[in-house]
Amino acid sequence: MKLTIIGSGYVGLTTGACFAEVGHEVICVDNNEEKIKTLLAGDIPIYEPGLADIVTKNVAAGRLKFTTDTPEGVDHGDVVFIAVPTPPNPDGSVDLKYIEKVAREIAPAIQDYKVIVDKSTVPVKTGEKVTETISRYAPEAEFDVVSNPEFLREGCAVADLMNPDRVVIGANSDRAMALMQKIYEPFHAPVLATDINSAELIKHAANSFLALKISYINAVSAICEASGADVELVAEGIGMDNRIGRAFLNAGLGYGGSCFPKDIAAFIAISDDLGVPFTLLKEVEKINRDQLDRFVKRIREKLWVLEDKEVAVWGLAFKPDTDDTRSSVAIELVEKLVAEGAKVRAFDPKAMEHVKNSPLGEKITLCDSPEAAADGAETLIVATEWPEFASADFSSIRDKMIAPVVFDGRNLLDPKTMEKLGFEYHGVGRGRPAEAS
Ligand code: UDX
Ligand code: UDX
Repeated sequence: MKLTIIGSGYVGLTTGACFAEVGHEVICVDNNEEKIKTLLAGDIPIYEPGLADIVTKNVAAGRLKFTTDTPEGVDHGDVVFIAVPTPPNPDGSVDLKYIEKVAREIAPAIQDYKVIVDKSTVPVKTGEKVTETISRYAPEAEFDVVSNPEFLREGCAVADLMNPDRVVIGANSDRAMALMQKIYEPFHAPVLATDINSAELIKHAANSFLALKISYINAVSAICEASGADVELVAEGIGMDNRIGRAFLNAGLGYGGSCFPKDIAAFIAISDDLGVPFTLLKEVEKINRDQLDRFVKRIREKLWVLEDKEVAVWGLAFKPDTDDTRSSVAIELVEKLVAEGAKVRAFDPKAMEHVKNSPLGEKITLCDSPEAAADGAETLIVATEWPEFASADFSSIRDKMIAPVVFDGRNLLDPKTMEKLGFEYHGVGRGRPAEAS
């Protein structure tokens, strides 16, 4: 099928490449000329495992093209996906200006029947607004609007898209639903067909539930620290219940990234707007904030004074296997340490470039390796659980540090091994009796 994606970022580019991979003819549009230039030159503007290979392969096969020209894109696709950002307003509600702008740009370019798909995460009832907008700017246009939320996780987005748990298609027309189902046939995934409003809600409800699971285990981790229990064992024990499941019960510094924080805030704002406040989610947010504050408090208590202390931080990306630092808790942690006068020496395998080009880049030392960051440090903090950090040479690192103290914000390392190597180890919720307060 002929498909168009408007917005070629983390979601749009990966989605477009995976559609091309299963045989569809795809044009990815973006209004960022630099980004399209990069893609046309054969480079990939983001780091996502496996993405470069399928982009290169499908560009060579002529199934994946790039342009900055929206009318050209709309003309090409029987189905046009919108994957532009939906950032938060200061009050947590969603700023839909890019969606509205793209709907206005699409409208005059519609020549024959089109399906317009909201792929971006949007509040319930946005589909109705997109329909109204296109009809206003192109009263004659023949089209249907569909909601088809994405459930891809950065870092494994290609695998998530190629083998989805489920595909949710919200459409109020049989014609649009049939076309959408045809697009997803090659993926052999269960398809849930719904109305548009339900599909929009599924996305916010799913992300909020996952965030709730994380906050739940983080709240339990605080009780573990206070009581001397080990949250890793507790998570294992409760996760073995099939009704609960072990996934998303990793205690740590809390959730970040471009989705959870903004989607939970958006769901709260929508529920308030609809007159049915979802107060449980306010607590989920609070636990998430408290988790980082509690961690920084423990570091402060250990080091007594943070000012002028050399602090090594491993990890800046919001999670491993991505270069994405948007709403990264690791970055928030570094900002808090810097605000208290600590001298931060940081390393991340993929996210250094983003930080180098940000104001924070000037306030910290970016190091070439985990070992270089730890050299001369008075404490080492693991902020993102990159697997290579776990296999570092800790004997040599211990010798290079001024004091071998580790704060493991993602419970990546084994406490007993670290202690045998001579480190003082502090994890999250791993309050063995000696650590209990
Ligand atoms: C997406 C979704 O769209 C968002 O709603 C969801 O919650 C998270 O994922 P993402 O792909 O991560 O966003 O964003 P980004 O990497 O910033 O990509 C968006 C792209 O849209 C950018 O390349 C930007 O240049 C482009 N864009 C933006 C347009 O092409 N037109 C616009 O009007 C605005
Ligand atoms: C999320 C959803 O998983 C995905 O379905 C949706 O489409 C987009 O938002 P993503 O933000 O890429 O994906 O990453 P995810 O793996 O969900 O992690 C989000 C945050 O939660 C990260 O900061 C991660 O460190 C944190 N997290 C995750 C935990 O703290 N504990 C966990 O057990 C899992």
